Amino acid sequence: MDAEDLQVLRLHENPQYLKPCCELINDEWPRSKTARMMSLQASCNNLPTSLILVNDKKHLLGHCKLTPIPSIPESCFIETVVISKSMRGKKLGSYLMRQVEEYCKNVLNLKMLHLSTKGQENFYAKLGYEVCPPVSIYGTRILNSEPVDISIKIQNPVPVSNSVKSGPPPPPPPPMPKPESLVQSSTVKSKKTFMFKYL
Ligand SMILES: CC(C)(COP(=O)(O)OP(=O)(O)OC[C@H]1O[C@@H](n2cnc3c(N)ncnc32)[C@H](O)[C@@H]1OP(=O)(O)O)[C@@H](O)C(=O)NCCC(=O)NCCS
Repeated sequence: MDAEDLQVLRLHENPQYLKPCCELINDEWPRSKTARMMSLQASCNNLPTSLILVNDKKHLLGHCKLTPIPSIPESCFIETVVISKSMRGKKLGSYLMRQVEEYCKNVLNLKMLHLSTKGQENFYAKLGYEVCPPVSIYGTRILNSEPVDISIKIQNPVPVSNSVKSGPPPPPPPPMPKPESLVQSSTVKSKKTFMFKYL
């Protein structure tokens, strides 16, 4: 599909897509329609903003929601990225993400983007996203936004106790996976992976 046939629009300026958008998202992540509609209806020019991908036939192909990160005002959180099931694998997800990045950079004047995923790490890695420490939306901001060598963090995972030490030290923990294998492994899916990208 050619890029000129595609458009990324703000959902709140195109309310005719609210219901199809609700169905598209609920097809992937089932949830009460009322709750989903309320979430979508919250879209506005300031965050949160739902951006939708439509083709020249006015068919809804995809959705992505941007939410604020009060603790990192120069970034936002990318959520609910979804391409309609029959249209996957045609680079539409990549196209949507690139347009979303342009929007965040040029319209929202953001410097970076964050997201979390469980299973789509490779998709985002191909778009230039790197694994980072978990982002607490309302908590502490990330002090060092550089890509984190997880192996450094995990080398000393046992909390240092203040109590008087007695007896032999506990056995060392098993080796942890390197960041690359976190991204590539299809078995490490139990926890969400946080990723970020500079715009
Ligand atoms: C993830 C999703 C948005 C990708 O959209 P898409 O249009 O199918 O992706 P693209 O065709 O643009 O794929 C781009 C590249 O990522 C790869 N890719 C896409 N999904 C992937 C996945 N789940 N795992 C590994 N690689 C993936 C593609 O193979 C392609 O690689 P290539 O450039 O080497 O050919 C889509 O599959 C989807 O809606 N999934 C269900 C919802 C979901 O999980 N969303 C993410 C929430 S965090």
